[in-house]
Amino acid sequence: MLKEKFDLTGKIALVTGSTRGIGKAIGDAFEEYGAKVIRHNTKVCDLSDPVAIESFFDRLDAEGSMPDILVANASLQAKIPWTGFPMDEAQKEIQINFLATLRMFQRCYPKMKAQKWGRLITVGSVNERRPHPDMCVYAATKSAQENLVRNIARQVAAEEITVNNLCPGVFYTDRNKECLADPVYGSKVTAAIPMHDYAMPEDAAGAALLLASDAGRYITGATIMVDGGLSLPG
Ligand SMILES: NC(=O)c1ccc[n+]([C@@H]2O[C@H](COP(=O)([O-])OP(=O)(O)OC[C@H]3O[C@@H](n4cnc5c(N)ncnc54)[C@H](OP(=O)(O)O)[C@@H]3O)[C@@H](O)[C@H]2O)c1
Repeated sequence: MLKEKFDLTGKIALVTGSTRGIGKAIGDAFEEYGAKVIRHNTKVCDLSDPVAIESFFDRLDAEGSMPDILVANASLQAKIPWTGFPMDEAQKEIQINFLATLRMFQRCYPKMKAQKWGRLITVGSVNERRPHPDMCVYAATKSAQENLVRNIARQVAAEEITVNNLCPGVFYTDRNKECLADPVYGSKVTAAIPMHDYAMPEDAAGAALLLASDAGRYITGATIMVDGGLSLPG
């Protein structure tokens, strides 16, 4: 039965940044389909701190809670023109959006390899296809993450571990609420989206569930756009 292939009963899923926004919607969907979801935010483990990442995974390991499914969702995004983009801000984005993902992949991999089942999922951005001029570092980190996904996907495919990138377009979450509420900016944004509407967090959940479950077992190294067509050439 196809619907059974979406079932996540018995799986442990770590979704970073799962107390708000897209991460919360993905965590809620995984729970609905039976997974034990580890809810994560800055208080649980600040991804800007490499030492905190090690302690967090050491704790999960000691508790027998190493993930079967990892969704690297949390990110940092600063809107600053490239000419004055501060190096310390750039370092922080590289750490949270790229290096933390690589390290979490490394920490999750041994269990996934041993059990011959795993799901590594990154949350990218439409900025990989249409970079925003004031978010050059953010866009670059997301593109680097996509490249990492394709690289690792090939290397672990025979171990029944899939590695994929889910790419949101414009979603109504805390980071966007204020600017989308501005009638001029909001209508400019929606006019650029072929579907003429922005997404709600739960719009990312179906694609995440597909990638996380056995229903998506033959999808690897893919980037799935969830963007209402925003990345399509005009
Ligand atoms: N929203 C969009 O339109 C959009 C578009 C394209 C891509 N995306 C991507 O989708 C993902 C989710 O975006 P969102 O808009 O749902 O995010 P959000 O509403 O800003 O939620 C952020 C979540 O990430 C956590 N977080 C932030 N920085 C962290 C850090 N340094 N360490 C640990 N946790 C941290 C937050 O924890 P606290 O509550 O503790 O702060 C919170 O749980 C991101 O990767 C983003 O780049 C979003």
